[in-house]
Amino acid sequence: MPRKLAAGNWKMNGMKQDLETIQSLSETYGAATVDVMVCLPATLIAACRDSAIGIGAQDCHALEGGAHTGDLSAEMLADAGATAIITGHSERRADHGETDADICAKSKAAYRAGTMAIICIGETLAQREDGTTLQLIDIQLAGSVPDAASAANTVIAYEPVWAIGTGKVPTLAQIEEVHAHIRMRLTERFSDGAEFTLLYGGSVKAGNAAEIFGVPNVDGALVGGASLKAADFGPIIAALQAT
Ligand code: PGA
Repeated sequence: MPRKLAAGNWKMNGMKQDLETIQSLSETYGAATVDVMVCLPATLIAACRDSAIGIGAQDCHALEGGAHTGDLSAEMLADAGATAIITGHSERRADHGETDADICAKSKAAYRAGTMAIICIGETLAQREDGTTLQLIDIQLAGSVPDAASAANTVIAYEPVWAIGTGKVPTLAQIEEVHAHIRMRLTERFSDGAEFTLLYGGSVKAGNAAEIFGVPNVDGALVGGASLKAADFGPIIAALQAT
């Protein structure tokens, strides 16, 4: 069975004063029966390194070090305390022009540093509407997921771009179709494809988490806005535990 994971993605949010949220989540969910993680802005990672919940980063450079002003290597993030790194989030694909090849290289960097890669894929509204979602998923899986991926070092997050931060959520049937497709492709390509944790992401909140977690091949969620406060993220973690 894939491991269940509730992962928060704080994006470009979070100041020192917000560390109490990590403290509170650690106290309440540090011994949860599912994996709990928050992917923090890099500035907060070191301060949380001894948390009872997992601490992740949101991006890394593909190289180990060198003349790349402003960038952070996977090794530096691991050194600060990150045990996972999000790669290929659609905001980075859009804001920084990251390609599948870039994301593959960054995911390999995550493995090199001993961290897990949370590789994000998902269609735009135009792709959803013109019926090319599954083709796009195939292209992103083939291009972004390294051959060295395994259930131990990789989590795949399906995040429809049009559902991120919008309050719009695909139907459960749409989520089921894409997750079943991802599972099929992973099983074709990797001997442990059935064991990969598959997350759904995009406007997950306390009110819809339970029904989303009931969808086959959904092993958890990548949560943006609703992970910023323990009072919002807590019920999502609880819903996953209850699944
Ligand atoms: P959201 O973001 O939960 O705020 O929609 C999800 C994500 O981008 O990971």
